[in-house]
Amino acid sequence: MSSPQSIDSSETSSQRTPAHVAIIMDGNGRWAEERGMDRMSGHAYGVEAVRATVRAAMQCGVRHLTMYAFSTENWNRPSAEVDALMDLLVRSLAAEADELAGQGVRLRAMGSLDRLPEGCREALAGAETKTSAGDKLDLTLALSYSGRWEIVEAFRKALVSGVAPGDVDEDTIGQLLAMPNLPDPELLIRTGGEQRISNFLLWQIAYTEFHFAPVFWPDFRESHFEQAIEQFHSRQRRFGKTGQQIQRTSS
Ligand code: IPE
Ligand code: IPE
Ligand code: MG
Repeated sequence: MSSPQSIDSSETSSQRTPAHVAIIMDGNGRWAEERGMDRMSGHAYGVEAVRATVRAAMQCGVRHLTMYAFSTENWNRPSAEVDALMDLLVRSLAAEADELAGQGVRLRAMGSLDRLPEGCREALAGAETKTSAGDKLDLTLALSYSGRWEIVEAFRKALVSGVAPGDVDEDTIGQLLAMPNLPDPELLIRTGGEQRISNFLLWQIAYTEFHFAPVFWPDFRESHFEQAIEQFHSRQRRFGKTGQQIQRTSS
């Protein structure tokens, strides 16, 4: 996921729909606990929120959607929850892949995927194949993913391929990330009330706008997505310049 749009980009106005939206889907456990249900039910109800988000993103003209589904640190949860999450992933991929393909969605996963159980890797490979012709929305699931993992991997790849120190610049690093051809996200949405990054796209969010949606993930629907886009449009993205410079270039 490199940065074809460099940080001193001439894109200084937020009047267009973001091409890439990233989402931290948080709050499933608390949503369930509030209802006297087990945490797993919260994850299961969260699947409908994913469906709604894909619909909303396509409706709004978003081209790339990256969703944080399971972090490197989430491996430290109780094994019963981890196993149930992996099962849910397999079932959801099997149930949704045809519909995603029909919608023109191309699904891919990024992360330390070799840590996933074999059944999950097979389900992912199947869904990636089924949706490979999708040309309307790139949906990237961040699974067994963390921003630091991705940066460590980028270092490894650079050393293995013998990149000379003088050749290292921001574009080189961008090309060594997990999804080298995705633009940086212009907008990052987090549900669940926490205002932190939790090791998500550390390199790519250098100038990303943040939106904290005031709901737990299972309650997130099209209207919340649209509100985030609306708030994005009200932001003035300055990329280090002054507000006056921005007004001059956008008028
Ligand atoms: C997000 O919901 C889903 C994953 C991290 C897998 P949580 O499970 O973190 O729910 P809360 O934040 O504990 O409520
Ligand atoms: C972030 O949520 C990871 C995902 C949504 C997949 P967490 O619930 O793991 O984050 P923390 O622990 O509250 O920072
Ligand atoms: Mg959480």
